[in-house]
Amino acid sequence: MESTKPRLFSGMKPTGRLHFGNYFGALKQFVDLQDTHDSFIFIANLHALTGLPAKDKLMQDTHDLILDYLGAGLDPEKVTLFKQSDVLAHANLTWVFNNLVTVPYLMRAHAFKDAEAKKAEVNVGTFDYPVLMASDILLYNTDVVPVGKDQKQHVEYARDIAGKFNNQYGELFKLPKELILEEVEVIPGTDGQKMSKSYGNIIPLFGTDEEITKAVMGITTDSRGKDEEKNPDELVIYQIHKLFNGSEELKAQYTKGLGYGDAKKMLIKDIIDFVTPMRARRDYFAANPKLVQQILVEGAMKANDIAMKKIFDVYEAIGLTQ
Ligand code: ADP
Ligand code: TRP
Repeated sequence: MESTKPRLFSGMKPTGRLHFGNYFGALKQFVDLQDTHDSFIFIANLHALTGLPAKDKLMQDTHDLILDYLGAGLDPEKVTLFKQSDVLAHANLTWVFNNLVTVPYLMRAHAFKDAEAKKAEVNVGTFDYPVLMASDILLYNTDVVPVGKDQKQHVEYARDIAGKFNNQYGELFKLPKELILEEVEVIPGTDGQKMSKSYGNIIPLFGTDEEITKAVMGITTDSRGKDEEKNPDELVIYQIHKLFNGSEELKAQYTKGLGYGDAKKMLIKDIIDFVTPMRARRDYFAANPKLVQQILVEGAMKANDIAMKKIFDVYEAIGLTQ
Protein backbone atom coordinates (compact mmCIF):
# COMPACT_ATOMS: atom_id res chain seq x y z
CA MET A 1 0.00 0.00 0.00
CA GLU A 2 1.15 3.56 -0.75
CA SER A 3 2.41 5.43 2.28
CA THR A 4 0.53 8.57 3.30
CA LYS A 5 3.69 10.07 4.81
CA PRO A 6 5.57 12.74 2.86
CA ARG A 7 8.24 11.25 0.62
CA LEU A 8 11.82 12.05 1.62
CA PHE A 9 14.78 11.51 -0.67
CA SER A 10 18.47 12.12 0.00
CA GLY A 11 21.90 10.58 0.00
CA MET A 12 25.63 11.10 -0.05
CA LYS A 13 28.51 10.35 -2.34
CA PRO A 14 30.83 7.47 -1.41
CA THR A 15 34.02 9.51 -1.46
CA GLY A 16 35.70 8.82 1.87
CA ARG A 17 35.07 8.61 5.57
CA LEU A 18 32.17 10.57 6.98
CA HIS A 19 32.81 13.29 9.55
CA PHE A 20 30.67 15.09 12.08
CA GLY A 21 29.87 17.84 9.55
CA ASN A 22 28.20 15.18 7.39
CA TYR A 23 26.50 13.70 10.43
CA PHE A 24 25.07 16.85 12.00
CA GLY A 25 24.57 18.63 8.66
CA ALA A 26 22.76 15.80 6.89
CA LEU A 27 22.80 12.21 8.17
CA LYS A 28 21.25 12.97 11.56
CA GLN A 29 18.26 14.49 9.83
CA PHE A 30 17.81 11.33 7.77
CA VAL A 31 17.71 9.34 10.99
CA ASP A 32 15.43 11.78 12.84
CA LEU A 33 12.93 11.90 9.97
CA GLN A 34 12.68 8.18 9.26
CA ASP A 35 9.58 7.70 11.43
CA THR A 36 7.59 10.58 10.01
CA HIS A 37 8.60 10.27 6.36
CA ASP A 38 8.48 7.67 3.64
CA SER A 39 12.25 7.76 3.23
CA PHE A 40 14.54 6.82 0.37
CA ILE A 41 18.23 7.21 1.13
CA PHE A 42 20.72 6.25 -1.55
CA ILE A 43 24.44 5.98 -2.19
CA ALA A 44 25.26 8.45 -4.95
CA ASN A 45 27.92 6.32 -6.61
CA LEU A 46 27.31 7.71 -10.11
CA HIS A 47 27.96 11.17 -8.69
CA ALA A 48 31.22 9.92 -7.20
CA LEU A 49 32.49 9.17 -10.73
CA THR A 50 33.13 12.87 -11.38
CA GLY A 51 36.30 12.50 -9.28
CA LEU A 52 37.45 9.44 -11.31
CA PRO A 53 38.05 7.26 -8.23
CA ALA A 54 40.11 4.07 -8.56
CA LYS A 55 37.87 0.99 -8.76
CA ASP A 56 38.98 -0.43 -5.41
CA LYS A 57 38.55 2.86 -3.62
CA LEU A 58 35.05 3.37 -5.00
CA MET A 59 34.06 -0.15 -3.92
CA GLN A 60 35.52 0.34 -0.45
CA ASP A 61 33.93 3.77 0.00
CA THR A 62 30.57 2.40 -1.14
CA HIS A 63 30.80 -0.45 1.36
CA ASP A 64 31.80 1.97 4.14
CA LEU A 65 28.99 4.37 3.38
CA ILE A 66 26.25 1.76 3.67
CA LEU A 67 27.75 0.65 7.00
CA ASP A 68 27.94 4.28 8.11
CA TYR A 69 24.26 4.78 7.23
CA LEU A 70 23.25 1.69 9.17
CA GLY A 71 25.60 2.47 12.07
CA ALA A 72 24.28 6.02 12.35
CA GLY A 73 20.82 4.57 12.88
CA LEU A 74 19.03 4.30 9.56
CA ASP A 75 16.65 1.40 10.02
CA PRO A 76 16.19 -0.73 6.90
CA GLU A 77 12.68 -1.60 8.12
CA LYS A 78 11.74 2.05 7.77
CA VAL A 79 13.99 3.42 5.05
CA THR A 80 14.59 2.24 1.51
CA LEU A 81 18.38 2.07 1.15
CA PHE A 82 19.88 1.55 -2.29
CA LYS A 83 22.79 2.23 -4.62
CA GLN A 84 22.23 4.73 -7.42
CA SER A 85 23.87 2.44 -9.99
CA ASP A 86 21.27 -0.28 -9.26
CA VAL A 87 18.55 1.93 -10.76
CA LEU A 88 19.29 2.59 -14.41
CA ALA A 89 16.51 5.17 -14.75
CA HIS A 90 18.67 7.84 -13.06
CA ALA A 91 20.91 8.05 -16.12
CA ASN A 92 17.95 7.75 -18.53
CA LEU A 93 16.12 10.68 -16.97
CA THR A 94 19.32 12.73 -16.93
CA TRP A 95 19.54 12.42 -20.69
CA VAL A 96 15.98 13.66 -21.10
CA PHE A 97 16.57 16.60 -18.74
CA ASN A 98 19.86 17.51 -20.44
CA ASN A 99 17.79 18.82 -23.31
CA LEU A 100 15.74 21.12 -21.11
CA VAL A 101 18.62 22.97 -19.48
CA THR A 102 21.05 25.34 -21.15
CA VAL A 103 24.81 25.63 -20.86
CA PRO A 104 24.72 29.13 -19.28
CA TYR A 105 22.24 27.87 -16.68
CA LEU A 106 24.57 25.05 -15.62
CA MET A 107 27.53 27.43 -15.69
CA ARG A 108 25.87 29.41 -12.91
CA ALA A 109 25.96 26.44 -10.50
CA HIS A 110 28.24 27.09 -7.49
CA ALA A 111 29.80 23.63 -7.65
CA PHE A 112 30.74 24.10 -11.31
CA LYS A 113 32.17 27.56 -10.65
CA ASP A 114 34.24 26.17 -7.77
CA ALA A 115 35.51 23.29 -9.92
CA GLU A 116 36.36 25.66 -12.75
CA ALA A 117 38.24 27.98 -10.42
CA LYS A 118 40.40 25.05 -9.32
CA LYS A 119 40.98 23.29 -12.62
CA ALA A 120 41.42 24.49 -16.17
CA GLU A 121 39.33 21.72 -17.72
CA VAL A 122 36.25 20.47 -15.89
CA ASN A 123 34.81 17.14 -17.02
CA VAL A 124 31.28 16.90 -18.44
CA GLY A 125 30.14 14.78 -15.48
CA THR A 126 30.98 17.60 -13.08
CA PHE A 127 29.23 20.09 -15.34
CA ASP A 128 26.12 17.93 -15.55
CA TYR A 129 26.10 17.01 -11.84
CA PRO A 130 23.01 19.13 -11.00
CA VAL A 131 20.99 17.44 -13.75
CA LEU A 132 21.80 13.95 -12.47
CA MET A 133 20.92 15.12 -8.98
CA ALA A 134 17.60 16.53 -10.24
CA SER A 135 16.88 13.13 -11.78
CA ASP A 136 17.61 11.38 -8.47
CA ILE A 137 15.17 13.57 -6.63
CA LEU A 138 12.42 13.78 -9.24
CA LEU A 139 12.19 10.08 -10.11
CA TYR A 140 10.67 9.34 -6.70
CA ASN A 141 7.87 11.95 -6.40
CA THR A 142 9.90 13.52 -3.64
CA ASP A 143 8.40 16.06 -1.24
CA VAL A 144 11.46 16.92 0.83
CA VAL A 145 15.23 16.66 0.46
CA PRO A 146 17.18 17.01 3.72
CA VAL A 147 20.67 18.33 2.90
CA GLY A 148 23.40 20.59 4.21
CA LYS A 149 23.20 24.25 3.21
CA ASP A 150 25.77 23.87 0.43
CA GLN A 151 23.32 21.62 -1.44
CA LYS A 152 20.45 24.12 -1.42
CA GLN A 153 21.13 25.34 -4.95
CA HIS A 154 21.04 21.80 -6.27
CA VAL A 155 17.55 21.28 -4.91
CA GLU A 156 16.51 24.60 -6.46
CA TYR A 157 17.82 23.32 -9.79
CA ALA A 158 15.74 20.16 -9.36
CA ARG A 159 12.67 22.32 -8.79
CA ASP A 160 13.44 24.45 -11.87
CA ILE A 161 13.96 21.40 -14.03
CA ALA A 162 10.70 19.81 -12.82
CA GLY A 163 8.90 23.06 -13.68
CA LYS A 164 10.45 23.18 -17.15
CA PHE A 165 9.45 19.62 -17.91
CA ASN A 166 5.92 20.11 -16.56
CA ASN A 167 5.45 23.24 -18.69
CA GLN A 168 6.61 21.54 -21.82
CA TYR A 169 5.06 18.09 -21.51
CA GLY A 170 2.43 18.15 -18.76
CA GLU A 171 2.50 17.80 -14.98
CA LEU A 172 4.55 14.69 -14.28
CA PHE A 173 6.86 15.92 -11.55
CA LYS A 174 6.26 17.11 -8.01
CA LEU A 175 8.24 20.18 -6.98
CA PRO A 176 10.58 19.12 -4.15
CA LYS A 177 11.69 21.29 -1.24
CA GLU A 178 15.03 21.31 0.56
CA LEU A 179 14.99 20.75 4.30
CA ILE A 180 17.78 22.51 6.15
CA LEU A 181 17.91 22.71 9.92
CA GLU A 182 18.81 26.31 10.65
CA GLU A 183 20.75 25.63 13.83
CA VAL A 184 23.12 23.18 12.18
CA GLU A 185 23.67 24.95 8.89
CA VAL A 186 27.46 24.75 8.78
CA ILE A 187 29.45 22.66 11.26
CA PRO A 188 32.93 24.11 11.81
CA GLY A 189 36.02 21.95 11.53
CA THR A 190 38.96 21.91 13.94
CA ASP A 191 40.37 25.10 12.37
CA GLY A 192 37.07 26.98 12.45
CA GLN A 193 36.41 26.79 8.67
CA LYS A 194 33.54 24.59 7.44
CA MET A 195 34.33 20.98 8.35
CA SER A 196 35.20 19.30 5.06
CA LYS A 197 37.37 16.42 3.97
CA SER A 198 38.99 18.76 1.45
CA TYR A 199 40.28 21.03 4.24
CA GLY A 200 41.86 18.34 6.45
CA ASN A 201 39.99 19.71 9.46
CA ILE A 202 37.58 16.86 10.19
CA ILE A 203 36.65 14.85 13.24
CA PRO A 204 35.84 11.41 11.77
CA LEU A 205 32.42 10.02 12.65
CA PHE A 206 33.63 6.45 12.97
CA GLY A 207 37.24 7.20 13.87
CA THR A 208 39.10 5.26 16.56
CA ASP A 209 39.50 6.79 20.02
CA GLU A 210 43.02 7.78 18.99
CA GLU A 211 41.86 9.49 15.81
CA ILE A 212 39.15 11.37 17.68
CA THR A 213 41.62 12.42 20.36
CA LYS A 214 44.13 13.63 17.78
CA ALA A 215 41.50 15.67 15.93
CA VAL A 216 40.12 17.26 19.12
CA MET A 217 43.60 18.11 20.40
CA GLY A 218 44.08 19.98 17.12
CA ILE A 219 41.07 22.27 17.58
CA THR A 220 42.13 25.91 17.30
CA THR A 221 42.04 27.83 20.59
CA ASP A 222 43.38 31.21 21.67
CA SER A 223 45.78 32.16 24.44
CA ARG A 224 43.21 33.38 26.97
CA GLY A 225 43.47 31.78 30.40
CA LYS A 226 40.67 29.85 32.03
CA ASP A 227 39.56 32.72 34.27
CA GLU A 228 39.29 35.30 31.52
CA GLU A 229 35.68 35.85 30.47
CA LYS A 230 34.81 34.63 26.96
CA ASN A 231 31.85 34.47 24.62
CA PRO A 232 31.46 30.70 24.06
CA ASP A 233 29.63 31.18 20.75
CA GLU A 234 32.82 32.67 19.32
CA LEU A 235 34.96 29.68 20.32
CA VAL A 236 35.44 26.94 17.72
CA ILE A 237 35.74 24.36 20.48
CA TYR A 238 32.41 25.34 22.02
CA GLN A 239 30.68 25.45 18.63
CA ILE A 240 31.71 21.80 18.25
CA HIS A 241 31.18 20.80 21.88
CA LYS A 242 27.60 22.09 22.02
CA LEU A 243 26.63 19.55 19.35
CA PHE A 244 27.30 16.84 21.93
CA ASN A 245 26.20 18.73 25.04
CA GLY A 246 23.83 21.64 24.59
CA SER A 247 23.38 22.33 28.32
CA GLU A 248 23.47 25.83 29.80
CA GLU A 249 25.88 24.48 32.38
CA LEU A 250 28.50 23.66 29.77
CA LYS A 251 28.04 27.07 28.17
CA ALA A 252 28.57 28.74 31.56
CA GLN A 253 31.76 26.72 32.09
CA TYR A 254 33.10 27.90 28.75
CA THR A 255 32.27 31.51 29.66
CA LYS A 256 34.59 31.39 32.64
CA GLY A 257 36.53 28.83 34.61
CA LEU A 258 37.20 26.09 32.08
CA GLY A 259 40.69 25.85 30.56
CA TYR A 260 41.02 24.67 26.96
CA GLY A 261 43.02 21.58 27.95
CA ASP A 262 40.28 20.35 30.27
CA ALA A 263 37.61 21.33 27.75
CA LYS A 264 39.30 19.14 25.14
CA LYS A 265 39.41 16.19 27.53
CA MET A 266 35.69 16.59 28.23
CA LEU A 267 34.91 16.89 24.55
CA ILE A 268 36.84 13.72 23.69
CA LYS A 269 34.85 11.81 26.29
CA ASP A 270 31.54 13.28 25.13
CA ILE A 271 32.25 12.35 21.51
CA ILE A 272 33.27 8.80 22.39
CA ASP A 273 30.17 8.31 24.57
CA PHE A 274 28.06 9.64 21.73
CA VAL A 275 29.47 7.28 19.09
CA THR A 276 29.74 4.13 21.20
CA PRO A 277 26.21 2.81 20.39
CA MET A 278 26.63 3.77 16.74
CA ARG A 279 29.92 1.87 16.56
CA ALA A 280 28.22 -1.21 17.99
CA ARG A 281 25.51 -1.08 15.31
CA ARG A 282 28.09 -0.54 12.58
CA ASP A 283 30.18 -3.47 13.81
CA TYR A 284 27.10 -5.68 13.81
CA PHE A 285 26.35 -4.98 10.15
CA ALA A 286 30.05 -5.17 9.20
CA ALA A 287 30.07 -8.70 10.62
CA ASN A 288 26.96 -9.62 8.59
CA PRO A 289 27.76 -8.80 4.94
CA LYS A 290 24.98 -11.05 3.60
CA LEU A 291 22.41 -9.05 5.54
CA VAL A 292 23.80 -5.80 4.14
CA GLN A 293 23.68 -7.25 0.64
CA GLN A 294 20.07 -8.25 1.15
CA ILE A 295 19.14 -4.77 2.38
CA LEU A 296 20.61 -3.25 -0.78
CA VAL A 297 18.92 -5.76 -3.09
CA GLU A 298 15.52 -5.17 -1.50
CA GLY A 299 16.08 -1.42 -1.59
CA ALA A 300 17.00 -1.54 -5.28
CA MET A 301 13.87 -3.54 -6.08
CA LYS A 302 11.63 -1.06 -4.33
CA ALA A 303 13.39 1.93 -5.87
CA ASN A 304 13.26 0.38 -9.35
CA ASP A 305 9.54 -0.18 -9.02
CA ILE A 306 8.91 3.53 -8.61
CA ALA A 307 11.65 4.77 -10.93
CA MET A 308 10.65 2.47 -13.81
CA LYS A 309 7.06 3.69 -13.67
CA LYS A 310 8.24 7.28 -13.72
CA ILE A 311 10.67 6.88 -16.60
CA PHE A 312 8.00 5.05 -18.57
CA ASP A 313 5.55 7.95 -18.01
CA VAL A 314 8.27 10.37 -19.11
CA TYR A 315 9.08 8.40 -22.25
CA GLU A 316 5.41 8.26 -23.07
CA ALA A 317 4.92 11.99 -22.49
CA ILE A 318 7.76 12.95 -24.80
CA GLY A 319 7.08 10.52 -27.62
CA LEU A 320 9.57 7.73 -27.04
CA THR A 321 6.97 4.97 -26.78
CA GLN A 322 4.44 4.03 -29.43
P1 ADP B 1 32.76 17.27 2.24
O1 ADP B 1 32.69 18.78 2.27
O2 ADP B 1 33.52 16.75 3.42
O3 ADP B 1 33.31 16.76 0.93
P2 ADP B 1 30.22 16.43 1.21
O4 ADP B 1 30.24 17.55 0.24
O5 ADP B 1 30.44 15.05 0.70
O6 ADP B 1 31.27 16.75 2.38
O7 ADP B 1 28.85 16.50 2.02
C1 ADP B 1 27.90 15.46 2.21
C2 ADP B 1 26.69 16.02 2.95
O8 ADP B 1 27.08 16.52 4.24
C3 ADP B 1 26.01 17.20 2.25
O9 ADP B 1 24.61 17.13 2.45
C4 ADP B 1 26.61 18.39 2.92
O10 ADP B 1 25.77 19.51 2.85
C5 ADP B 1 26.77 17.90 4.36
N1 ADP B 1 27.92 18.57 5.00
C6 ADP B 1 29.23 18.38 4.72
N2 ADP B 1 30.02 19.13 5.50
C7 ADP B 1 29.19 19.84 6.31
C8 ADP B 1 29.40 20.81 7.34
N3 ADP B 1 30.62 21.19 7.71
N4 ADP B 1 28.32 21.33 7.95
C9 ADP B 1 27.08 20.94 7.59
N5 ADP B 1 26.81 20.04 6.63
C10 ADP B 1 27.84 19.48 5.98
N1 TRP C 1 25.22 16.24 -4.11
C1 TRP C 1 25.01 15.59 -2.84
C2 TRP C 1 26.27 15.82 -1.96
O1 TRP C 1 27.30 16.21 -2.45
C3 TRP C 1 24.77 14.12 -2.98
C4 TRP C 1 23.53 13.84 -3.77
C5 TRP C 1 23.45 13.35 -5.05
C6 TRP C 1 22.19 14.05 -3.34
N2 TRP C 1 22.14 13.24 -5.43
C7 TRP C 1 21.35 13.66 -4.40
C8 TRP C 1 21.64 14.54 -2.15
C9 TRP C 1 19.96 13.76 -4.32
C10 TRP C 1 20.25 14.65 -2.07
C11 TRP C 1 19.42 14.26 -3.14
O2 TRP C 1 26.20 15.61 -0.79
